[in-house]
Amino acid sequence: MPFQVKTYEEYKEAYAHSVAQPEAFWDDIASHFQWRKKWDKTLAWTFTEPNVQWFINGKLNITENCIDRHLPLLGNKPAIIWEANSKEQQHVVITYSELYEQVNNFAQVLRNNGIQKGDRVCIYMGMIPQLAVAMLACARIGAIHSVIFGGFSASSISDRLQDAQAAHIITCDGAYRGPKDIPLKNIVDEALVSCPFVKKVIVYQRTNKPVNMVAGRDVWWYDELQKVTAQGHQPIAAEEMDAEDPLFILYTSGSTGKPKGVVHSCAGYMVYATYSFVNVFQYRPGEVHFCTADIGWITGHSYIVYGVLCAGGTSLMYEGIPTYPDAGRFWDIVAKHKANILYTAPTAIRSLMAYGTAPIEGKDLSSLRVLGTVGEPINEEAWHWYNEHIGKKNCAIVDTWFQTETGGILISNLAGVTPSKPSYATLPLPGIQLALMDEQGKEMTGNNISGNLCIKFPWPSILRTTWGDHERCRLNYFATYKDMYFTGDGCHRDEQGFYRITGRVDDVLNVSGHRIGTAEVENAINMQEGVLESAVVGYPHDIKGQGIYAYVILEQSHEHEQGMQAHILQNVTRIIGPFARPDKIQFVKGLPKTRSGKIMRRILRKIAEGDLANIGDTSTLLDPGVVDDIKDGKV
Ligand code: WTA
Repeated sequence: MPFQVKTYEEYKEAYAHSVAQPEAFWDDIASHFQWRKKWDKTLAWTFTEPNVQWFINGKLNITENCIDRHLPLLGNKPAIIWEANSKEQQHVVITYSELYEQVNNFAQVLRNNGIQKGDRVCIYMGMIPQLAVAMLACARIGAIHSVIFGGFSASSISDRLQDAQAAHIITCDGAYRGPKDIPLKNIVDEALVSCPFVKKVIVYQRTNKPVNMVAGRDVWWYDELQKVTAQGHQPIAAEEMDAEDPLFILYTSGSTGKPKGVVHSCAGYMVYATYSFVNVFQYRPGEVHFCTADIGWITGHSYIVYGVLCAGGTSLMYEGIPTYPDAGRFWDIVAKHKANILYTAPTAIRSLMAYGTAPIEGKDLSSLRVLGTVGEPINEEAWHWYNEHIGKKNCAIVDTWFQTETGGILISNLAGVTPSKPSYATLPLPGIQLALMDEQGKEMTGNNISGNLCIKFPWPSILRTTWGDHERCRLNYFATYKDMYFTGDGCHRDEQGFYRITGRVDDVLNVSGHRIGTAEVENAINMQEGVLESAVVGYPHDIKGQGIYAYVILEQSHEHEQGMQAHILQNVTRIIGPFARPDKIQFVKGLPKTRSGKIMRRILRKIAEGDLANIGDTSTLLDPGVVDDIKDGKV
């Protein structure tokens, strides 16, 4: 593959070159893509505003890079292999030629339904290949997709629709996830009560359960497609996009307020997602790449859809969950499709570890060459289990660190090329200039230090803005440290210069690899009648990585009410989604606050962790007595 670093020496050379001459470095990589018009200038940037532009005045369409350019050589090769939730259902193979046809036809459907370049299209579907087709069809006509994870509630959907002013939605009647089927269309209907600006809802039939179709607004995917194919298969000309035009919005949680719409650009995102895919996994032509993430998160965008297809790879996509119908499902899928790369989350590994090795026995995992993890720190025990029982000590393991905002993997070992170290993401990819900052805002030098992780120089897939609110983007990421992108993560650099991510230093939780803001959960709890105030913190959880611990003060009149706990849980499910439900709720009389009224979360975290001996100084609290009360009542 072009631009693939093959040895540790080559990595060091590429890294040095990328720092010394970033523009020449990325020019060369970008030249391996298909452009309608070459860029005039590689990079213009300042982090102060922020304003970052890559491949300025270049023109392209990402789908020509993901599909069209592969047709002559890879037309009959699988682009997507799809494994259904149920073992009984036949798997589906979509070749590059078929993908070309499906994306073109559906792009025409989108146009027929009034969608134009620059329009925002919300996609709320299960993990079926049509989800990838819908994204690519949007990209083909220059519409900006905003994929919403199928676990989000109606209220989360309407927030996102309103923020992006998305007037078009693509959804399904329902989605299968393990033993459940989720009524996606009903949830959309509920969301639309507060979104009268939505003009069209295109519905794909997956579960065939009855749904309500609103005349004039709701149309069936299949019917619309028939209208297009009845006129013969006419490929549509892909829209010519500027390098800096937005490709998609993806909402993610921050420490304050509602989720932010992270905006990625067409060209920079494409170049970096592909570069990182090819290098981290050391992808070889013909290999099957199995990423178990949901496309509703950035990992799925970059490493199920765009990065893999741009590299001409085969992406294996799975509809269900790791434990359905049993805890051997991943291994059955690997064996059945001879997957070469498995990319999953530590939380999935930990939950499968709990079943022991019986579900692995007799499964042929010999096709595996690379194992990857993403989304949260991996503990050493899980790393070794993955290495021994899945990799049979014969696979490279990559611990890949990145964020929705970074678009692609920034810190990871390169499979079999650079050294690995359990629980370390190890080294930055070429082009990524890291800095560890101390509390005073100074860069820390030398090794064996811990600080806040920042990035000093732009890379092509850095977020460009947060939709509709550029100032929020600046404040969140570029204002904490001067001339730096601040990640929100803490990080350790060891004696060898390897990086280990230690977790968020802001009020963002990472529950089973899902990013959730404490403020969002608190808001949802506070909406329950009878709740006066709440404070939410994370605590270590064996499977989820982090669990959610909520301290709740009830109004006096509700203090003895039955069922409050259940009501609160229902409310969180209704307002955010089931994955954000607190694991523990403790009713308290007061919260530890400073004299200025700020909640001391540090203390609450210690209590939630059960580390009662190290609560520290409470003398600055308004009422130090509340701490003892909370300790006494710990759940
Ligand atoms: C965390 C997910 C440790 C981190 C791709 C980051 C990780 C947040 C790792 C982003 C890793 C991601 N080791 N922590 N390998 N990968 N994280 O936006 O705290 O959903 O800031 O993107 O996940 O979550 P997001």
